[in-house]
Amino acid sequence: MFQLAEQPDPEKMFHSTYPFYTGSSLHMKEHFKALANLLKRNFLSPGALVLEIGSNDGTFLENLQPDYRCLGIEPSAGPAQRAIERKIPTKIDFFNLQTAQHIYEECGRASVMTAANCLCHIPDPHAVFEGIQLLLDHDGIAVLEDPYLGSVLSQTAYDQIYDEHVFLFSVTAMNFMVTKFGFEIFDLEPQWTHGGSMRYFIGRKQRRTISSNVNKFLAQEAQSGFKTISFYQGFKKRCERSKDALLDCLMDLKEKSSSVAGYAATSKSTTVLNYCGIGPDLISFISDTTPDKQGRFSPGMHIPIYSYDYFQKNYPQTAVLFAWNHAEEIMNKESAFRKAGGRWLRYVPEVRFE
Ligand code: TYD
Repeated sequence: MFQLAEQPDPEKMFHSTYPFYTGSSLHMKEHFKALANLLKRNFLSPGALVLEIGSNDGTFLENLQPDYRCLGIEPSAGPAQRAIERKIPTKIDFFNLQTAQHIYEECGRASVMTAANCLCHIPDPHAVFEGIQLLLDHDGIAVLEDPYLGSVLSQTAYDQIYDEHVFLFSVTAMNFMVTKFGFEIFDLEPQWTHGGSMRYFIGRKQRRTISSNVNKFLAQEAQSGFKTISFYQGFKKRCERSKDALLDCLMDLKEKSSSVAGYAATSKSTTVLNYCGIGPDLISFISDTTPDKQGRFSPGMHIPIYSYDYFQKNYPQTAVLFAWNHAEEIMNKESAFRKAGGRWLRYVPEVRFE
């Protein structure tokens, strides 16, 4: 497991101006619709209670209404208000044992609890499992989904390490943690989201048949050396090589006076820009569709962030794909950029033009 040694106060990150809205990506919407269908098929009977921890703008729960009773718990008031406007019951709060107790008194136990890209944000994951212990039916399931440490390592995706990702879990770490709380992982499914995530199906001990996938991943991780320091020293070397290659590329473009912009002011880009020391001299602007980010500057390196409209009217010769986790969606959408002679510069899994 990776864990941040220092982390900002969650109250400073997840508030009314938290700028991430799940519904802004078409593929994320489809992803959560598919999850809702899977739950309906296999785990839910009509009227069952579904709780989502970190429900953002309600993109997932929307798929389950009105056939099931739904409640989202979301501390970022902006996205939570959006969900409420769409009539998705949402509690604006952090999830912990105290919140769980309130929910238990109001709603009782849940058949399904979900948390997608959420547990990795929470400094005290034990409090989350205590809450799940209280709220989950005896035969209920929790479906957790988080960026997967294995994908970070195999793709040298060091940009997944940033202030919101307090943890990056391996299956080994997740398995260790859930066991402490009387749960077990009964199935696993790798996901394409966030550049490589893992979906964990968790139930109370000895309630369900354990899929062979679980032992397969645990064995694979043990074999790859997840518990050895040399494995991580190799990752460090690959990060340094990635940084050198990206800087070489950008310096070369600068020498040729070739224009470069960034595509999407992602959280991940903050890590890349600051780790590599890339400022407005190398990337003149970053385009992003989020109104809250436009007119501001990238944290630390101060590259101006402009609207998507600006990008379309001012195509650069090269666009650095900071939202590489949405590559397919973006490449499809931006065929005109390529036709106009533009090139994509990617840095995961290696630095290359596309
Ligand atoms: P995200 O995948 O959430 O990455 P991170 O978790 O690292 O922030 O990226 C979301 C950001 O990317 C958000 O600011 C919107 C922006 N974006 C675009 O500007 N255009 C796009 O086509 C997509 C898919 C995202």
